[in-house]
Amino acid sequence: MSELNLILLGPPGAGKGTQADRLKDDFGLPYIGTGDLLRKHKEDATELGTEAASYMANGDLVPDGLVIRMILEEIEEKGDDGFLLDGYPRSAGQAEALADALEEAGRKLTAAMLIDADDATVIQRLSGRRQCRNGHLYHVDFDPPKNEDGFCDIDGTRLVQRDDDKPATIGKRLVTYHEKTEPLIDYYDERGLLRRFDGSRAPAEVHDHIRATLATLRLEERL
Ligand code: AP5
Repeated sequence: MSELNLILLGPPGAGKGTQADRLKDDFGLPYIGTGDLLRKHKEDATELGTEAASYMANGDLVPDGLVIRMILEEIEEKGDDGFLLDGYPRSAGQAEALADALEEAGRKLTAAMLIDADDATVIQRLSGRRQCRNGHLYHVDFDPPKNEDGFCDIDGTRLVQRDDDKPATIGKRLVTYHEKTEPLIDYYDERGLLRRFDGSRAPAEVHDHIRATLATLRLEERL
C-alpha cells in the first residue's frame, strides 16, 4: 500500500493551510479542509452551516456530531487514493471516529503531522492574516500582495480579514486548542504516527522538511 493518508495538526495560525496548499500539489493529494468546508456551508446557509456559525464566531469547536459525518463523507467521496486532512480531528471523539472508519475500510493513517508554533507567534500571524474569497492567503507584514495593496495577486479579488481573526476570538481559539486538540499530540505519538515540524520557521523551510519526511514515509510504505 503506498497511499498517503495524512492529517495536519497544530494550533490555529501555525501554517497548516499554507503548507497544505503546497503539499496537495506536490503529492497530488485530495485536500479536505474542515474550516473551509464549514465556511462554505455557512455561506450557502445550509442547516449545518447555520448551526456551526455561532460556534465558529465564538472560537469554540463545532460539535463532533456535526463535523464527523461531514468529514467521513468527504473522505469516502474524494479520498480513495489518499487524503490530506486539515483541521480534523480536533477532539478525542473525532480521532476515534476517524480511526474506526479507516479500520472498517481496511486502511490506516500514514502520519499525523504537527506544525507547532507558540501562542505569541499565532497571535501575530492571525491578526495580520488576510485572504481573498478564493482562499489565497496573505499576511500584512510577512507575505503582503505584490501587485496591489489589499487585492489578491492571483485572482485580483479584494482581501478581507476572517471574522474569527479578531483579537478576542483568537484568544478563545487558542484556549480551545490547548484544551481539546493538544491532547491529540500524545494520542498520535503513542501510536507511532506523530511527525513534528517547527512552524516558527519560514514557510519554505517548513515545506522542505515536510516534503522530505513524506517522501521517506512513502518509500517505507512501498518497501
Ligand atoms: P480553521 O479554518 O481550520 O482554522 P484554524 O485551525 O484555526 O487554522 P487557521 O486556518 O486559522 O490557521 P492555519 O494553521 O491554517 O494557518 P495559515 O496557513 O492560514 O477552523 C476555523 C473554525 O472552524 C474553528 O475555530 C472551529 O470553530 C471550526 N472547526 C474547524 N475544524 C473543526 C473540527 N474538526 N471540529 C470542530 N470545529 C471545527 O497561516 C496563518 C497566517 O500566517 C497567514 O497569514 C500566513 O500567510 C502566515 N504564515 C503561515 N506560515 C507562516 C510562516 N511559516 N512564517 C510566517 N508567516 C506564516
